[in-house]
Amino acid sequence: MLAILPSNIFFALTFLTFSVSASDCLFGTHLHRRQSYGYSGESGPTNWHDLDPANEACGVGNFQSPIVLNGSTPFAIQPPFMTIPQVPSANFTNVGATLQVATNGTTIVDGEEYALRQFHFHTPSEHRINNEFYPLEMQMVHESVNGSIEVITFLFELSERGETTELLTSVIQNIDKVEHYGNSSVTGPLNFTVLIDAVQTQPLYTYNGSLTTPPCTEGITFFIVSNPLPIDVATFNALKHVMKFNARYAQNYLGGSNLLEVVSQLGDQGIHISFSRLCCKCAEGFGVDFVEAGYPGGNSTDVVLSPNTSDSGVRKRLPSVKFRV
Ligand SMILES: *[C@@H]1O[C@H](CO)[C@@H](O)[C@H](O)[C@H]1NC(C)=O
Ligand SMILES: *[C@@H]1O[C@H](CO)[C@@H](O)[C@H](O)[C@H]1NC(C)=O
Ligand SMILES: *[C@@H]1O[C@H](CO)[C@@H](O)[C@H](O)[C@H]1NC(C)=O
Ligand SMILES: *[C@@H]1O[C@H](CO)[C@@H](O)[C@H](O)[C@H]1NC(C)=O
Ligand SMILES: *[C@@H]1O[C@H](CO)[C@@H](O)[C@H](O)[C@H]1NC(C)=O
Ligand SMILES: *[C@@H]1O[C@H](CO)[C@@H](O)[C@H](O)[C@H]1NC(C)=O
Ligand SMILES: *[C@@H]1O[C@H](CO)[C@@H](O)[C@H](O)[C@H]1NC(C)=O
Ligand SMILES: *[C@@H]1O[C@H](CO)[C@@H](O)[C@H](O)[C@H]1NC(C)=O
Ligand SMILES: *[C@@H]1O[C@H](CO)[C@@H](O)[C@H](O)[C@H]1NC(C)=O
Repeated sequence: MLAILPSNIFFALTFLTFSVSASDCLFGTHLHRRQSYGYSGESGPTNWHDLDPANEACGVGNFQSPIVLNGSTPFAIQPPFMTIPQVPSANFTNVGATLQVATNGTTIVDGEEYALRQFHFHTPSEHRINNEFYPLEMQMVHESVNGSIEVITFLFELSERGETTELLTSVIQNIDKVEHYGNSSVTGPLNFTVLIDAVQTQPLYTYNGSLTTPPCTEGITFFIVSNPLPIDVATFNALKHVMKFNARYAQNYLGGSNLLEVVSQLGDQGIHISFSRLCCKCAEGFGVDFVEAGYPGGNSTDVVLSPNTSDSGVRKRLPSVKFRV
């Protein structure tokens, strides 16, 4: 029913409040832009589209990540071929939204060469398998010469026998020095053999989705190692303590409407958006009639907007309002 999608609104509402958390999982790639977003409150994933017009895909994209993987998700026919040199140490940085290690390496996917830029972590996992989540996910971000991005992802399961993946122990060697945004230190020696072996030998779920952080760009190829690797409790707790919660919620099935649009299209109930996002320019030029502006519940900071597809051509301006942030 809505030919004029909330994207227009998302795009138009430019009055922003920024949180302290800054950065993204694109560091080292051409898509990297410094920006503010977080994982809770108004800077959280349900509002990323509203933090910056460039984040539009977060609110309207139909191929968004992460997703719930299941028996219908295809496995890669041929695994990516990874070559990552062992290094005595690598840069380990708290980039706000995650902890990140800058690495070099080369991965061949379908004959195309991708450079490994970095890997970073999410607690809990962003991807789920048959709806089961894992305590930790590690995403290795690669970029090809023409800018295609490919992500190889590992899930980690807490070991009941104290087993762990040595790479992680070495990564967090100086984790106490990167407790705050902007802190940078170095890892211990990095040996990727176990991870490369997993990619080369285990079934890999694959799908084309998006960045799991703003700007949620689509056209990103994911490979997810289907069997989790072990992590010991101490390593997991150390990572969790510094990173905090940093997983985007599972998105709709591939090709399905963006869940934020689904929520905003509940009948004619309109879209609830924070009053602090409003400005009088919003309605102009975007084919949206704000036919039902009001204050539900009286002294509320919300206003109800009804996008109107059978646009009469009359574009109303919202009254200039004094709002509370
Ligand atoms: C996997 O999830 C998709 C999307 O929710 C669903 O359509 C499909 O039936 C599921 N497949 C299996 C095998 O559960
Ligand atoms: C990656 O390569 C760059 C350029 O050669 C080098 O400066 C950097 O130290 C390398 N990083 C690692 C972790 O080896
Ligand atoms: C590590 O990365 C941070 C953030 O990009 C940078 O500021 C710092 O100079 C790097 N340190 C080294 C030793 O390369
Ligand atoms: C990148 O270049 C390769 C060929 O080198 C091509 O197959 C691929 O489609 C290109 N990707 C993009 C996003 O242009
Ligand atoms: C980490 O960042 C905090 C906050 O910016 C700063 O006070 C502290 O000195 C930094 N620590 C190191 C080891 O750089
Ligand atoms: C790297 O790890 C593999 C697997 O654990 C091991 O066989 C190999 O000896 C390690 N390489 C070095 C240089 O320690
Ligand atoms: C992802 O997109 C690429 C490029 O369009 C295509 O070659 C590949 O088959 C797609 N993968 C899946 C799992 O759909
Ligand atoms: C509306 O709420 C604000 C903040 O809670 C309060 O200061 C103000 O008095 C309220 N106004 C009315 C008319 O209730
Ligand atoms: C949408 O616009 C049409 C034509 O201007 C109008 O008749 C209709 O009442 C509007 N719909 C809503 C929900 O206000």
